[in-house]
Amino acid sequence: MTTTRGLRSIAGEEPITMLTAYDAPTASIIEEAGIDVILVGDSMGNAVLGYDSTIPVTMDDVASRTGAVARATEDTLVVADLPFLSFGADEAESIHNAGRLLKEEGADAVKIESGDHTVALTEALVDVGIPVMGHLGLTPQHVNELGYARQGTDREAAESIIELAEAHEAAGAFALVLEHVPANLAAAITDRLEIPTIGIGAGPACDGQVLVITDVLGLDDWSPSFSEQFGDVGAAIHDAVAAYRDAVTAGEFPADEHSYVEEDLEGVADVGGEKSSGDK
Ligand code: KIV
Repeated sequence: MTTTRGLRSIAGEEPITMLTAYDAPTASIIEEAGIDVILVGDSMGNAVLGYDSTIPVTMDDVASRTGAVARATEDTLVVADLPFLSFGADEAESIHNAGRLLKEEGADAVKIESGDHTVALTEALVDVGIPVMGHLGLTPQHVNELGYARQGTDREAAESIIELAEAHEAAGAFALVLEHVPANLAAAITDRLEIPTIGIGAGPACDGQVLVITDVLGLDDWSPSFSEQFGDVGAAIHDAVAAYRDAVTAGEFPADEHSYVEEDLEGVADVGGEKSSGDK
């Protein structure tokens, strides 16, 4: 079973693998395939809930999907994302929301999109027993300020990300996602930290990599340039659905093996008299 502490020893041997999941069947397949960490990301907003950003995602959205993923997995570390405004404004409320994902839904840890305002919160969460994964660089919950641009591209911005990374490690974070930052910045941070870094669009030097599952499976029309489609599940779903449609319209489904005839009901059509004119 992967634990938050165990991640460090994985990182010592081979790159950590992390993928997002938002439902039980996908989580179960991801576990069977041997992925170390499942992130129930607020990327569900774009990936499966039909929004054009993560901003509208609610605690209830993340909670119900975290429960589904946790129930479908045994050995994989399940990290649940705290959605926009579920943390950061009020410490007690942030702890309550994070605790709900562990206590009621079975997450092993939470991820928070990090900044100056989350250093003390990370410490407070870790103090009460809630493991925290930080997230620096591009933080999509700040889309209204920053858009989706690469972060840490000048010296001042890079230094500020390095400082925040160190501050979150000191505050007790067990790992750090680095999103859409230059590979040499991610390498420098990875070098300086004891805790593992997990990159997305952050180059190969990170201790691990994460991608959004719908990008990996080819279920989205668009995916970021730093992502990679490893399968064409969209095409497989299309073919299966079209085959079902064809079978139903051709009268081939359901076949005899899909139906059951109860002998005792012989003649049941005659019970109750004539069909009324309104019946189908
Ligand atoms: O929500 C998410 O899926 C994420 C990953 C992109 C790291 O934050």
